[in-house]
Amino acid sequence: MLEIAEKVHDETRQGEAFAPFKEEVNVYRKKFYIESYGCAMNFSDSEIIASILNKEGFGATRNFEDADLIFLNTCSIREKAEQTVRKRLTEFRKVKEARPGLLIGVLGCMAERLKSKLLEEEKLVDIVVGPDAYRSLPGLIEEAETGQKAVNVLLSRDETYADISPVRLDSNGITAFISIMRGCNNMCSFCVVPFTRGRERSRDAVSIVNEARDLFSRGFKEVTLLGQNVDSYYWVNETTNETITFARLMEMVALIDPSLRVRFSTSHPKDITGEVLHTMAKYENICNYIHLPVQSGSTRILQLMNRTYTREWYMAKVKQIKEIVPDCGISADIIAGFCTETEEDHRDTLSIMEYSQYDMSYMFFYSERPGTLAARRYTDDIPEDVKKRRLQEIVELQNRLSLESNKKDIGKTFKVLIEGNSKKNTTEWKGRSSQNKVIVFPKLNNDLKPGDYAWVKVNDCTQATLLGEII
Ligand code: 5AD
Ligand code: SF4
Repeated sequence: MLEIAEKVHDETRQGEAFAPFKEEVNVYRKKFYIESYGCAMNFSDSEIIASILNKEGFGATRNFEDADLIFLNTCSIREKAEQTVRKRLTEFRKVKEARPGLLIGVLGCMAERLKSKLLEEEKLVDIVVGPDAYRSLPGLIEEAETGQKAVNVLLSRDETYADISPVRLDSNGITAFISIMRGCNNMCSFCVVPFTRGRERSRDAVSIVNEARDLFSRGFKEVTLLGQNVDSYYWVNETTNETITFARLMEMVALIDPSLRVRFSTSHPKDITGEVLHTMAKYENICNYIHLPVQSGSTRILQLMNRTYTREWYMAKVKQIKEIVPDCGISADIIAGFCTETEEDHRDTLSIMEYSQYDMSYMFFYSERPGTLAARRYTDDIPEDVKKRRLQEIVELQNRLSLESNKKDIGKTFKVLIEGNSKKNTTEWKGRSSQNKVIVFPKLNNDLKPGDYAWVKVNDCTQATLLGEII
């Protein structure tokens, strides 16, 4: 799910906290500190949570030592994600022992999965709130302040937080996420998300376009439309009776301004339509990049995973993408060592990677999640050393494919949205191409600034980055 995931089986952009409302920090009655784990959706949710708390007089702080409330917005996708959170809770337990008035809350997928069990297991947790119950957070904080344990893990069929303007606290001011739908109806057998995030529902398109327009008016130049399965976005405007598909939604956002870039994630291979691909081809500001999780290259394993497509079907989809959007970047999620996976199945995964020529992948070994279809139906029978060896082979192949893909860009010129200084060198800018590749290039003495576009010619590359110069 998006680029905030680290590339191998480690969990994602872990534990990032929000910046304070700098000059305003003292006007709030209480301060909260929030760390987000996992996918982009969680980071986006933390911005909604910040907005809800903000309205009730709570201010964010980047420093947990200053906070009256500590929140962890958690991920359950793999066991390791949960272990990371538990470790962090142990650290915060010590902080709480020294400051008994401090309240600690677990939000998001782990809260939903473990419910009040979490309060029993992690004695010093005071508040447990699932992904559809964030509006009740201020009330739950009040309850917890009186010494009660406060829990709300009700899932909803219609909550989309459509009316809430997320507070962009830890933002580069150039790129932002917009959540367009919540939940997932897919029931991939390995996946806990349908259980922790509930049924799929699409957000009011008017509120999405308004949010994008507002971001653009504040200087943002790129929005990423987020959902577990964006291609099944579907909303009917009751005033105009217009049906809004994902392709139409993308078009509406793209039409705000040609200098506003539009990205999206995640696409399900079974659902991405020709209409979406043609819309991408039609608008220059819809980025030519698709995250298209394959999970496995073996039809037999795909069937056990309940992915509802075959190897051949996926390959045809990749071919169609390359025909309609010829320079499209493609990335994938891949799972090694799913139940019953043979060496032949594994080789099918390697060969579909070669076929698809992924620019990048997020690669994991299978981690059984309690309650999922796979946990109930199949035995997690691939030994850990075999899973790890297969994952290593997948990673090595992806490293080669990424380098080859980058080498093909040498000599080409790309329109790059400047996001800020390069991490290693402040005399260089860092930006991205439409294909979502990171490009680093010397600043020179001109007037460019973050949020501007530059035409950059690629001279060299590493496996992860293109190196270029402004032309
Ligand atoms: N084990 C390993 N990887 C998983 N993913 C989802 N569930 C599991 C699991 N139980 C991966 C899938 C998905 C990505 C977000 O995480 O590849 O696309
Ligand atoms: Fe999980 Fe599959 Fe839904 Fe993605 S599409 S969130 S992998 S169930």
